Amino acid sequence: MSVKKVLHAMAVMVLVLGLAGAAFGAPIVIKFSHVVAEDTPKGQMANKFRDLVKERLGGKVVVEVYPNSQLFDDDKVMSAMLLGDVQLGAPALSKFEKYTKKLQIFDLPFLFKDMTAVDAFQSGPKGQELLNSMKGVGILGLGYIHNGLKQLGSSKPLRVPADAKGLKFRIMTSDVLAAQFEALQAVPLKKPFSEVFTLLQTRAIDGQENTWSNMYTQKMHEVQPYITESNHGLLDYMLVTTVEFWEGLPKDIKPELEKCLKDATAYGNKVSADKEVGDRKLIKDSGRTQIIELTPAERQQWVEAMKPVWKKFEGEIGKDMIDAAVAANK
Ligand code: LMR
Repeated sequence: MSVKKVLHAMAVMVLVLGLAGAAFGAPIVIKFSHVVAEDTPKGQMANKFRDLVKERLGGKVVVEVYPNSQLFDDDKVMSAMLLGDVQLGAPALSKFEKYTKKLQIFDLPFLFKDMTAVDAFQSGPKGQELLNSMKGVGILGLGYIHNGLKQLGSSKPLRVPADAKGLKFRIMTSDVLAAQFEALQAVPLKKPFSEVFTLLQTRAIDGQENTWSNMYTQKMHEVQPYITESNHGLLDYMLVTTVEFWEGLPKDIKPELEKCLKDATAYGNKVSADKEVGDRKLIKDSGRTQIIELTPAERQQWVEAMKPVWKKFEGEIGKDMIDAAVAANK
């Protein structure tokens, strides 16, 4: 038997024992692993899900939340899930490239004008189709969770694309994001989220891109003197599980769990909308980082510098998919 088959057999065994345990009265345990702080949109969504499940399915299902990369980093969580070591995760949409190229769409720079457009695309037919884009490898998308639009943090003021030339930026594990920084003649470095603060502090990198809430909760604003308010890209998540685990859930439990996920997601998305404003203000009020607001002409220069990246990935993503996302901006 190949190693892959042995691992698969072990995962099935873990699942069968877990679900059989449930039949004899032991609760089904759902481990939810993520990398951000608890006081973030995803952290709050995960905790809300845990609490709702306790309230509505107490005794039958227990959700254990592991924040701050405590259990797994994002580069490990998917393989751990396929092995049955964790049942729920919500990596950023940028981190699924190993499993599907289709989700690369979400990394295209300047694709969505605001979160209303993101919502329209994700809840439309194409966005819903993408939830099934990893079914062939045993992974099921259960929904999207918002974090928000990304800004550019740096040790130097960035007003126009030429300011980024030659600088090193930490990125998530995404070839689209690498191409985006290469288009600026900057140097992208794929690094885990848990390392970003130290990389900035030690000047191993010059900058990074992230949302207001991730920068604030990781204290990046204390070690990076400038943030350009570029809103140039999206950082959202796909809530994922395995097909095997989800389809093996008892019929009387699954609908209620789905409802808990839906309600927790609505809650998390509200937190995300609040934090886009609130955490920006906290960073501004800290006085540690200068926020650079771009004029329309300056912003247009970033659009022109980054947008050629779209063409490079159109073949893998599909033009129909990109057209649907663009149409969501109307
Ligand atoms: C990052 O690596 O910057 C983000 O994916 C972290 C997160 O989960 O928001």
